[in-house]
Amino acid sequence: MKSSAKIVVKASPADCADYVQQQLISDLQEAIAKHGRALLVLAGGSTPKLLYEKLATLPQGQVDWSKVVLLWGDERNVPADHADSNYRMVCQAWLDKMPPDQRPKSYRIPTGDLSAAEAAQAYERTLKELRADQPLKLDVVLLGIGDDAHTASLFPETQALYCKDRAVCENWVEKLNTWRVTLTFDALNAATKVYFLVCGQSKTPALKQILKGVANVELYPAQGVQPREGSVEWVLDQAAANGL
Ligand code: 6PG
Repeated sequence: MKSSAKIVVKASPADCADYVQQQLISDLQEAIAKHGRALLVLAGGSTPKLLYEKLATLPQGQVDWSKVVLLWGDERNVPADHADSNYRMVCQAWLDKMPPDQRPKSYRIPTGDLSAAEAAQAYERTLKELRADQPLKLDVVLLGIGDDAHTASLFPETQALYCKDRAVCENWVEKLNTWRVTLTFDALNAATKVYFLVCGQSKTPALKQILKGVANVELYPAQGVQPREGSVEWVLDQAAANGL
């Protein structure tokens, strides 16, 4: 793993969420000041829920949400109202708790009626429209990792790891027997700031491999997140960091 990655250890998942929230506020304000808007890519799974719940209670004025665009780093191959949907998780933890006129603009990965491949193509078009003939720049990307060192839906030894010249790709995940839709390394590495939010002792073995093990993106996909012109920060709770 690139030695420039910063590692921050906090006592608890709540402290991790507090820390990332503070970082997010300044990163988003900086991006908005610099180019008038901020593209924020959200992580799925369960770990970031606490952060999203905190963002729901952020006092008004801390972030001009009208200038923030929400994207998702990946999505399960389910409709928006499905229990497994990352979009639904963010809405329930955060967006549904905000007054509709104060919510940031959000673009969900349009899984459900479309096939995974069609949803990936549609999201590719969304990102293309957002970047308006400029190179893709993602101001802030939130990610998690699985126990198997996957990130987003870039799972070990799956096809999406090799997806080139695309920002979004469908991905067959044999071990889950399901399709996923995921941002590719090309897209994730267009980030200015990446925060991996990792909590719980179950993640320690994967963290060791990613941060200290042999370089092998095929086996430890999170190693492939190395922004071309940005930085990576690993925000770990004590349980995940113990023994690192
Ligand atoms: C997903 C996520 C995935 C997640 C990790 C960690 O769709 O599941 O995008 O990459 O970040 O699997 O998930 P937990 O936070 O639930 O441990």
